[in-house]
Amino acid sequence: MRRTALLSQVLAVNTLLVVATVFAASVAARLDLSDASGARQFLVLVAAILATLLANNFVMRRRFAPLESLTRTMECVDLTIPGIRAQPQHGEPADVARLRQAFNLMLSRLESERSGSATAVLRAQEAERARVARDLHDEVNQALAAVSLRLAATAEHAPPEFAEELAETQRLAGQAMQELLGLARELRPSALDDHGLLPALRTQVRLFGERWGIPARFAADGTRPLLGEFEQLVVYRVVQEALSNIARHAHAENVKVTVMGCNGAQVKVSVIDDGVGLAPERVRDGGSGLVGMRERALLAGARLEIVPTAGGGTTVELTVRARGARSS
Ligand SMILES: Nc1ncnc2c1ncn2[C@@H]1O[C@H](COP(=O)(O)OP(=O)(O)OP(=O)(O)O)[C@@H](O)[C@H]1O
Ligand SMILES: [Mg+2]
Repeated sequence: MRRTALLSQVLAVNTLLVVATVFAASVAARLDLSDASGARQFLVLVAAILATLLANNFVMRRRFAPLESLTRTMECVDLTIPGIRAQPQHGEPADVARLRQAFNLMLSRLESERSGSATAVLRAQEAERARVARDLHDEVNQALAAVSLRLAATAEHAPPEFAEELAETQRLAGQAMQELLGLARELRPSALDDHGLLPALRTQVRLFGERWGIPARFAADGTRPLLGEFEQLVVYRVVQEALSNIARHAHAENVKVTVMGCNGAQVKVSVIDDGVGLAPERVRDGGSGLVGMRERALLAGARLEIVPTAGGGTTVELTVRARGARSS
């Protein structure tokens, strides 16, 4: 069912009331339209009705404008872009002001609850990844190492006709160990815990280049950016997803990852490729990778921008506030 706007309803009721009142008044005054003075009086009445309705329309629209503006703000609120608030309007009535304040309060609560629960989910996910990575590394990898050693020992005493088969099995066990370690590293980069963000990123970029055969460079203007543990993890994961996207979608010939502002209040991390570029609607609508990047950036209070690289390709830029830096 189509609903009529409140303003239209009020205007319609007012129009009816004015017309009905004037009609009743003209009946009561026994207005006679057959003579000239009666017709003149009637015209004056019609002009008065029109003037009243116009004035009523003008005043009502002005009174309803703050409500309209509040509705527009409510319609465009997006919790993934925090900080949008309904602004006070000139001539705002008290009840609209109350509604606006209640709406802003509700937004603040929603934003903080959303951020709290999303951070908890992310932390739980990272803890689970770390546990699985540890199990892969400590248990499955140890078991494969033992198999490999046993194979080596068996090969020493085995008849020569089994030598080739045993060597091949050993090679496969070695390959499985390498893949397992790679998987564990992707799940939870121990370099991040052991050596810090920059060495972990450097290793990530080097392994990316080796794996995909795309020349990949890494540069930083310092050694230890002043970032908290959560922010470092966010940077690492954003770079990981950006590199994975380059490998899968970009057809790039060169990749560069830079970390600038290591000693400053804002650390800027860029992942630059010279590939086919990313269509703007994909930036907006993205798959779960781009959405995940945005979500992480949001939770770390960072700014994520995905822009075309000059000369072709895509640049993913993450700007994170350093620890202790005041928000602007
Ligand atoms: N560096 C890039 N160059 C070109 N296209 C890109 C690049 N990064 C992303 N895209 C495009 O944006 C789309 C969305 O990327 P997104 O990471 O969100 O999803 P995905 O990589 O397709 O899947 P997943 O959820 O596994 O990450 C991709 O399908 C791809 O078309
Ligand atoms: Mg992706």
